[in-house]
Amino acid sequence: MSHSIDIHLASSKQEKYQSLLPQLKALLEGETDTIANMANISAALKQTFGFYWVGFYIVKKEELVLGPFQGTIACTRIKYGKGVCGTAWKEKRTVIVEDVEQFPGHIACDAASRSEIVVPLFYRDDVVAVLDIDSEHLNHFDETDALFLQQIVKLLEEV
Ligand code: SME
Repeated sequence: MSHSIDIHLASSKQEKYQSLLPQLKALLEGETDTIANMANISAALKQTFGFYWVGFYIVKKEELVLGPFQGTIACTRIKYGKGVCGTAWKEKRTVIVEDVEQFPGHIACDAASRSEIVVPLFYRDDVVAVLDIDSEHLNHFDETDALFLQQIVKLLEEV
């Protein structure tokens, strides 16, 4: 089976996600290693959308620790409730930040990042990791991203 991501016919953001989702499902099928799956999801999102930074932070004790990602070097540890990632963890919800400079406590791992979306990943009722995506453009993320990225992290939750 081919594991390439074919997005040539998709144009709008929604179409790209709709095309990507079943391909990711196939890619993850039969693989139970979470790190491997997070790595491939990061790569697929980067490849499909060209996001500036895409990756996972994993809950370890009282902190989020950097996991598989694609992009520039990032902060390794984020405390509960801190930054956009720590807020998504604490509030157990997807957080969309249109302009990181307007988000109190935003953690600037890379000065080029202008907007951000963070989607929590649950095991039962607990957040066990977050998917973090940064853009170099302001106001890059909306409800369409939230909706599809939540479906993408669900693939990991099911594993
Ligand atoms: N900006 C994030 C930190 C992680 S980096 O963007 C990769 C935050 O405020 O939580």
